Amino acid sequence: MGQALVVVRDVRKVYKTGDVEVHALRGVSMTVEAGEFVAIMGSSGSGKSTLMNVLGCLDRPTSGTYLLAGREVSRMDKNELAEVRNEVLGFVFQSFNLLARTSALENVELPLVYRGVSSRERARRATEALERVGLGARLDHTPAQLSGGQQQRVAIARALVGAPKVILADEPTGNLDSMTSVEVMALFQELGSQGITVVLVTHELDIAEFASRVVVVKDGLLVTDERQPPKDAARALAAARAAAPPPPGPREERP
Ligand SMILES: Nc1ncnc2c1ncn2[C@@H]1O[C@H](COP(=O)(O)OP(=O)(O)OP(=O)(O)O)[C@@H](O)[C@H]1O
Ligand SMILES: [Mg+2]
Repeated sequence: MGQALVVVRDVRKVYKTGDVEVHALRGVSMTVEAGEFVAIMGSSGSGKSTLMNVLGCLDRPTSGTYLLAGREVSRMDKNELAEVRNEVLGFVFQSFNLLARTSALENVELPLVYRGVSSRERARRATEALERVGLGARLDHTPAQLSGGQQQRVAIARALVGAPKVILADEPTGNLDSMTSVEVMALFQELGSQGITVVLVTHELDIAEFASRVVVVKDGLLVTDERQPPKDAARALAAARAAAPPPPGPREERP
């Protein structure tokens, strides 16, 4: 800890649609240190995704500064932003965004294809990433042959394969049942213990409990920013499993 990875100062974002201006971010400042696990909360339309898009170098702020891993990215052009994204960031989405009819291994290899990594090296790194998320035995499965939680873990492996410093996740548990959500949170906590910074958006208080810091966005402003002792997801998972063993899922039985 102690290293400021994300330093956002007075960031504003104005969307112009025809004559209408939407002030989606109205002066946001925050610093995230290496290894922190931040949950961003707030009602619909408050500006969470807009903030994540700025943090993720997918969109530039209208004004303000953003220092990411020591680099000022707020005025970079598209190509430079893409480079920083590749080097520093990993993304996880609510809808997994995996290619259908494509194996877990190939899905995870994809970011490396774009970077011109050799096929043997891609397979090695993708296998390692899938092992890291507990899917070493599912390399050849397509998304349809995996449970929702497993699909999200493939997506996390895809985010990890480029060795990111920060993982950004917009509602990663939005399509998962509560047990599977806790599983995903346990994985994020484990990544945190390995020094990876996680910033996630969630609508659910019982998901935010697993973070070490909760930030609330309202009308384009940060209204709360509090550190907390995170709830232990692995322990919560073990307790939930002991209380209600899951029924045998047909998908789990496939070879
Ligand atoms: N591309 C865009 N063009 C114009 N307005 C936009 C655009 N994206 C978002 N907005 C507006 O900016 C505001 C913030 O939107 P944002 O998507 O950041 O909200 P959110 O907090 O992620 O909401 P949700 O919880 O529903 O995902 C909203 O008023 C939205 O209508
Ligand atoms: Mg959103």
